[in-house]
Amino acid sequence: MKFFLDTGSLAEIREAAALGIVDGVTTNPSLVAKEGVDFRELIKEICDVVNGPVSAEVLSTETELMIKEGRELAKIHKHVTVKVPMIKAGIPAIKALSGDGIKVNVTLVFSPSQAIIAAKAGAAFVSPFIGRLDDVSEHGMGLIQDVLQIYRNYDYKTEVLVASIRHPMHVVEAAKIGGHIATMPFKVFEQLWKHPLTDIGLDRFLKDWRQAKDKLATAR
Ligand code: G3P
Repeated sequence: MKFFLDTGSLAEIREAAALGIVDGVTTNPSLVAKEGVDFRELIKEICDVVNGPVSAEVLSTETELMIKEGRELAKIHKHVTVKVPMIKAGIPAIKALSGDGIKVNVTLVFSPSQAIIAAKAGAAFVSPFIGRLDDVSEHGMGLIQDVLQIYRNYDYKTEVLVASIRHPMHVVEAAKIGGHIATMPFKVFEQLWKHPLTDIGLDRFLKDWRQAKDKLATAR
């Protein structure tokens, strides 16, 4: 499973990337707006830190403008993946940008039919938002299961980028059913390796080791 960081914070990206297990980054207009910096400059800097796809979202909602914007975003860096929302006007834009050889991540996906369209239009990634579905009493992970099944049936190459992840179990459940990528906030990323028994166990190991060494030293 690939791990993407869902953030616009360079500090978080640098800290996570230093561990060597970050495969990409996703941003969205809300995340970028929080940073209060120039969008393109930020994307370029993220691309320099992470050796993998970095999603940058178009802001236009008309086909021609989305294509133009997507082409401009793709010029920023070879790592840029253009994020296009799943709206009617976006469908020809996904097709055109993908036809140019630009990787497209179709975002704001909430149903299997939307995911089929993303794949048919040639998207490299599809982003079903599972947390937001859970928020409205729908089964987010069920959508991932459906999309994976459909893509397998037709051998679609579009990768399922599990998005709107809220906690570590979202990552685990997505991995169990074969989700290709989990994109997560830094907070969730950090929760992945933490376990109180690991800390207690390590404490005990080190204490036992020190005690044994002290005993040896006093016996000499
Ligand atoms: O980047 C898209 C998605 O992951 C947003 O997550 O938590 O705002 O629903 P959230």
